[in-house]
Amino acid sequence: MTVIPLKGRPWDELKTELEDAKKDDFKWEEGRMALYFYYLDEEVKRVQQEAYKTYWTENAMGKKTFFSMLKLESEVLEMGLALHHAPANAKATFTSGGSESIFMAMKTARDWARDTKGITEPNIVIPRTAHPAFDRSAAFLNIKVIRVPTTRADYRADPAELEKRFDSNTIMTMASAPNYPYGVFDPVADVADVAQKHNLWMHVDACVGGFLAPWVKKLGYDIPDFDFSVPGVTSISADIHKYGYAPKGASMMMLRDEALHKYQVFDFNDWERGPYVNDTMQGTRAGGVVAAAWAVMNYLGEEGYTLWAKVIMDTVKKLTDGIDAIEGLTVLKPHELCLFVYTSEDPDLDIGAVGEEMTKRGWFIGRQAEPVGIHMHLNPVHAKTADLYLSDLAASVSEVRNTGAVAKQAAAATY
Ligand SMILES: Cc1ncc(COP(=O)(O)O)c(C=O)c1O
Repeated sequence: MTVIPLKGRPWDELKTELEDAKKDDFKWEEGRMALYFYYLDEEVKRVQQEAYKTYWTENAMGKKTFFSMLKLESEVLEMGLALHHAPANAKATFTSGGSESIFMAMKTARDWARDTKGITEPNIVIPRTAHPAFDRSAAFLNIKVIRVPTTRADYRADPAELEKRFDSNTIMTMASAPNYPYGVFDPVADVADVAQKHNLWMHVDACVGGFLAPWVKKLGYDIPDFDFSVPGVTSISADIHKYGYAPKGASMMMLRDEALHKYQVFDFNDWERGPYVNDTMQGTRAGGVVAAAWAVMNYLGEEGYTLWAKVIMDTVKKLTDGIDAIEGLTVLKPHELCLFVYTSEDPDLDIGAVGEEMTKRGWFIGRQAEPVGIHMHLNPVHAKTADLYLSDLAASVSEVRNTGAVAKQAAAATY
């Protein structure tokens, strides 16, 4: 068992050991992974790191001492709210990630429904494509989850099917912008319509799309309205540590109406130290990530975000055209943003085995369970590796065809 060493060791030695420890990891700077990271270039990495270092030990919870933190955080939240067409009375919270944003939205919805409708055994009715964070939060919050499979060929949530499952204990429904399994936008406006009809909380999970879709839309792509411009949307989760390009630990949960915020707050005053009031799951919070989010947003600006959005969309096109051109492979359609899935349409070509061949060639493959396939989640660095990816994929397909290999491991690896 490792214990704290008796004597300390020099930093140079530790630094080398840390760098060496990474040598067998998949190389994210080389775009070798299809998920888990977002990398633009060395310049933006420097901005992230230096901004983080400037506030490396400040505590973002300490708003009465770190006045500058409060200012930086407010500016980040205001920029996010404006991007999502929030009304003047909206309210946002800086959280550690998509899971926490979703948790806080569900907690707020639960307490709102208890207070305003007297619901004590709440359930939420959500599309089956929703992120597992909804079920995880529900497990903590004692909420029942009803997942409704989509019957639509385009993988979008079906508002009528959702509505059929609402009952008197339903507090919330949701739409993804886009969903993670297929990368398509749920029909946010239609889901919001049925939510309004039943006076339900309507959450939009824009963890992936929140800081990317607005720029892609500006580039002329057909992206549906998904934010507070849609009547009936109560809350939105949008991750700054995804396409906002902040370091990990940055997301925002937005409420259309700050009057709802009272249901989000934990307000406690039964210990010797006096009142403790908090509106996130965290206590102490890293100040560095707030400063880094602020710096990257100001460094890139609309122009930078739009430019990188174009890089992503061009890479999606290049990769999907290239994959479709490989005999036996097919990209599922539609896909609308930075995510897509490809499968094998040839019974003699095992897609799991193709994935294993790609792994041997140094690619970390995202595996899709239904239908069995390979899931891609792109960020700008993949532009540099798209040609190599496609040539390795063609070689992998040939290898599997020549050997007749079938997947050794279960096709769907844990996300
Ligand atoms: C659509 C969606 N929602 C929520 C999350 C959860 O975000 P996080 O991993 O930052 O907690 C993810 C993560 O990929 C996601 O894709």
